[in-house]
Amino acid sequence: MARILTGIQSSGVPHLGNILGAIMPAVEMSKSTKNESLFFIADLHSLTTIKNPELIKKNTYATAAAWLAFGFDTEKNIFYRQSDISEVTELMWILNCFTPYPMLANAHSFKDKSQNLSDVNSGLFTYPVLMAADILLYDANIVPVGKDQLQHLEMTRDIAGSFNHLMGETLILPESKISENVMIIPGTDGKKMSKSYDNTINVFAEEKKLKKQIMQIITDSLGLEDSKNPETCNVFKIYKLLASDKEIELMAQNYRNGGFGYGHAKNALLELILKKFSKERQAYSELMNNPEKIEKKLKEGSEKAKKIASSVLQRVKKKLGI
Ligand code: TRP
Repeated sequence: MARILTGIQSSGVPHLGNILGAIMPAVEMSKSTKNESLFFIADLHSLTTIKNPELIKKNTYATAAAWLAFGFDTEKNIFYRQSDISEVTELMWILNCFTPYPMLANAHSFKDKSQNLSDVNSGLFTYPVLMAADILLYDANIVPVGKDQLQHLEMTRDIAGSFNHLMGETLILPESKISENVMIIPGTDGKKMSKSYDNTINVFAEEKKLKKQIMQIITDSLGLEDSKNPETCNVFKIYKLLASDKEIELMAQNYRNGGFGYGHAKNALLELILKKFSKERQAYSELMNNPEKIEKKLKEGSEKAKKIASSVLQRVKKKLGI
C-alpha cells in the first residue's frame, strides 16, 4: 500500500478551476481502497503572504468546506490542517541544517520573487524546506503535484538523501506524480482560470454573484440572429466541461442555428451550475455557517496525522542524539 500525500494551498474560496482540476479528481482517488492518502491545508505556507488572522481562518474553513462538500472521504483518508501538527516545524528546523544555502537561493519560486529582496521574508526563502518537512514527516511515497512544484519535490529528495547519507537510512525519498491530465479550465476571459487573473467562477458564491461572474464571460459581438461557432466561444468551452453529451450537442446546435444569443448561453450555463452543484453548494454553506463542524473534522484528521508525525520525528531525533 502506497502512502500518498499532498498539500492544498489555502489562498481563498476554491473556484470552478480548483474544483474540476484538483478537488473532484482527488475525491475520486480518495475512494480507492488501494492507497492511504493524507491531504492537508497548508496554512503555515500561506503565512509567507497573508498576515490577517481572520482571513487565514476564513481561507482554511473555505478550503476545508469545499473538500468536504465534494465528499472527500475523511474516514478512509487523513484530512488535516498543517499547523495542527507542530512536529512539522520542529522537523523543518532539523532539515534546515541539512539544506545547502545555494539550493534555496536557486529555487524558481524564490528567484521569481527576489527582484525586490526587501519585500522577501525568510519564510518565502525556506518555503521548500517546510514543504520537505510536510512530506518526510509522514513517510510519504507518492506526492501528486502540479508541474510548478516539481523542483520542490526534487529538493525534498535531495534533503532527505543528504540526511540519510550523513545520519544513516532514516527518511523515505518520495516520488512525485505529475497529474498528466491537468485540465486547463478557461476563466471568464478565456485565459486559464486563476484567482490572480481575476477571471474565476465561484461555484459557492450566492446566486446573484455567480450570475454576475458568468455574465462577464467574454464573447465576440455577433448578434442574436447570427449563426455562431461553439468551439471558439468561452461560454461553450466552460459549459462543455460540465454538461452531459446530450446537453452539449443541443447547445452546439443552438449556436449554429442562430436565434440563440450569448445571453441565452450564459443563462443556460448558470442554470447548469446551480443544478449540477446544488448539493455541494448547500453542504458548503451549511459548513461555513457551522465552522465547529469543520473544526471537528480537522481535529479528527489531526489526531490520526499526529500519530505518524510523532513517531517519524522520534526516529529522526534519535539519529541526531537529541
Ligand atoms: N506548495 C504547494 C503548492 O503551492 C502546496 C504544498 C505545501 C504541498 N506543502 C506541500 C504540496 C507538500 C505537496 C506536498 O501547491
